[in-house]
Amino acid sequence: MRVLVVGSGAREHAIAVSLAQDPGVTALACAPGNAGTAAVSEQLGLDVSDNDALVALARSWEADLVVIGPEVPLVNGAADAVRDDGIPCFGPSREAARIEGSKAFAKSVMTAAGVPTASSVVVDTPAHLDTALSVFTPPYVVKDDGLAAGKGVVVSSDVEVARAHALSLLEAGHPALLESFLDGPEVSLFCLVDGSTVVPLLPAQDFKRVGDGGTGPNTGGMGAYCPLPWAGDDLAEDLADRIVRPVAAEMERRGTPFSGLLYAGLALTSNGPAVIEFNCRFGDPETQAVLALLRTPLAQLLHATATGALAEQDPPEWADGAAVTVVVAADGYPATPRLGDVITGAEGDGVLHAGTRRREDGAVVSSGGRVLSVVGTGADLAAARADAYARLEPVRLAGSHHRTDIGLDAERGEVSVPAARA
Ligand code: AMP
Ligand code: GLY
Repeated sequence: MRVLVVGSGAREHAIAVSLAQDPGVTALACAPGNAGTAAVSEQLGLDVSDNDALVALARSWEADLVVIGPEVPLVNGAADAVRDDGIPCFGPSREAARIEGSKAFAKSVMTAAGVPTASSVVVDTPAHLDTALSVFTPPYVVKDDGLAAGKGVVVSSDVEVARAHALSLLEAGHPALLESFLDGPEVSLFCLVDGSTVVPLLPAQDFKRVGDGGTGPNTGGMGAYCPLPWAGDDLAEDLADRIVRPVAAEMERRGTPFSGLLYAGLALTSNGPAVIEFNCRFGDPETQAVLALLRTPLAQLLHATATGALAEQDPPEWADGAAVTVVVAADGYPATPRLGDVITGAEGDGVLHAGTRRREDGAVVSSGGRVLSVVGTGADLAAARADAYARLEPVRLAGSHHRTDIGLDAERGEVSVPAARA
């Protein structure tokens, strides 16, 4: 099988590494890829927002399967374009990708499916803001009702901070979504979905804030670990039954079945699991940890999903133990990352590239806010953490920063679901 991966992050590097290990994959390419994917796959030039260019590339390269990583091309109909050309594609249609592209759409699907989520109000003019805010109690949650790469959310107990964020969104012409705060630990559950069949992967936890201890602004994700030692073995199937299968059934009922990777971002609250958001693609950086433990050949799973044959597959098999990924971010990330700095020591196993490119003189330099995603594995979370931080040791990038506490609370047994309220 000839597989073309679209995207250029560490998620795509992780997908490419897994695909390269699949004996069923005879040729592998990334478009546009990065300095790291070049080590495991052919690199093909592509503007991922240009659907016609993608179809032409998939056809000329004779792809048997196209795997689309990022949300932007999916929301832009890239998967429809590829499928319309007769090429199997892993990724949802434009219509189904609205589950991520429009938070209001996602809320309407969840309401119809009876799936718990935060209560919410969309505000589209400053005149309605104060009345809307008065309905909520702290902490306040204010979001951009559209794609914002994980950075459009402010969670604050200070009403003035919440107000200011909502006003800045409105001034930029974006409706603001106000939400009730969900307490409890977060879980990222990735499910392969081919319309009706839903197959959950290992649950993971992502670290959204930039600083240790959950301080500083939200980012696209600073690290992740899986599985969750504080959760029971049946968590993934339980969440699939309660949350993801009803949503997949509702999407089918609407005539917009979901095909690809449906990512439920959940909070395990004192009132039971509730959805924070859905994403229409693999999450970054959780994918780097989850795929590190996958033993089933990845191309087989993705092709079965793309062709509606998921029900005929055996359940995915997993390595024992744990995986941890730590993101190395550029100076200034998440606000204004400094780019173009030389990176050394990033050739080792487990060092996945995100915002990197090879300069004409051969040096690898930073080209994005999240630069590397270093993956460690081990017999348990403590061993996987130690492995990840050891692999990070030789990496040098001027001004870079990373969190030192990825998975630490879980390793110490300090993560738990809050007790049910009376
Ligand atoms: P999102 O972009 O919707 O995934 O939100 C980014 C992060 O903000 C989430 O991972 C949570 O940590 C936090 N967050 C978003 N919505 C809520 C909510 N309703 N309650 C608590 N935390 C939230
Ligand atoms: N890990 C967060 C995201 O991929 O949106």
